[in-house]
Amino acid sequence: MKALVLAGGSGTRLRPFSYSMPKQLIPIANTPVLVHVLRNLRELGVTEAGVIVGNRGPEISAVLGDGAEFGMRVTYIPQDAPRGLAHTVAITRDFLCDDDFVMYLGDNMLPDGVVDMRGGIHRPSAGGQVVVYKVPDPRSFGVAELGPQGEVLRLVEKPRDPRSDMALVGVYFFTAAIHDAVAAIEPSARGELEITDAIQWLVSSGADVRASQYDGYWKDTGNVEDVLECNRHLLDGLGARMDGTVDAASVLTGEVVIEPGAKVVRSRIMGAAIIGAGTVVQDSHVGPHASIGRRCTVTDSRVENSIALDEASVTGVRGLRNSLIGRSASVGGTGQENERYRLVVGDHTRVEVAA
Ligand code: G1P
Repeated sequence: MKALVLAGGSGTRLRPFSYSMPKQLIPIANTPVLVHVLRNLRELGVTEAGVIVGNRGPEISAVLGDGAEFGMRVTYIPQDAPRGLAHTVAITRDFLCDDDFVMYLGDNMLPDGVVDMRGGIHRPSAGGQVVVYKVPDPRSFGVAELGPQGEVLRLVEKPRDPRSDMALVGVYFFTAAIHDAVAAIEPSARGELEITDAIQWLVSSGADVRASQYDGYWKDTGNVEDVLECNRHLLDGLGARMDGTVDAASVLTGEVVIEPGAKVVRSRIMGAAIIGAGTVVQDSHVGPHASIGRRCTVTDSRVENSIALDEASVTGVRGLRNSLIGRSASVGGTGQENERYRLVVGDHTRVEVAA
């Protein structure tokens, strides 16, 4: 089975980060979302992945390379504009040939793996297998109505009035039958070729499309709150590892990962937390639920439930929480009591300060 990984989306809900990096490279527990995706695919036995990229292809290939590091062969396939999920199937026809494949949206995190989700794709008659997840409010997802054996009866993309609480997770298993469906459908009201419409076409033409219900942890990392929540979830299962140096005046509690070359000096790290390679934490409290990237500095500060990307610095800030700090960004106190705030922030940045 091959894989089609979609990493072309622009990530408007993740501004300002998505101005300077593809949203699929946002690190969760210090590992980019796309790397988590490739690991899940490898676990599924996939060794050949086509990665759909938009204008940020070079940054994505700089991280994934030829895929060898993940036990895969990665082929990059450009999409000129976001023309829909089904459009990516059409433009990868030559790469996919008539093979079965799994389509995986590159911002979806399913840390419990998808191995059990492929279901009946091995039956020759199988028209495909979708993955569903029970959600309280399915209106922002594709929604599946299912029969008693998990057969898909009807699919609707982002219905205003959902007739089921089963949302489509961004993982789909297809046979070559999907190509006729993609060729037959028309663009939706938002001008895109919807994969939901293509699967509905298969169902309407009598194909046997089934759903597997995923009940592990699932997050579409489309906005800052979801990224932080997913980071908490992953940190909690990461365990402890010590590859850096911690001085005698520092205390580590709970599950803490200290990556190679990181230094902790006169500080307290409360797990679950990860301190990236080459980072220096000094006279600070970090965690719980903090992921500090590589080559960062955290000095005289207190950082909790936050992610700092590579080369960020935090200095003299004693109450940083629920924050996402970009690459090489610096967050600092003014060093004076009762000082007003001073901000140098870019477009679409969000700053929240104490009332
Ligand atoms: C896409 C699919 C939708 C699915 C969702 C899962 O929506 O169109 O059916 O439920 O991914 O993340 P999008 O995130 O592009 O709005």
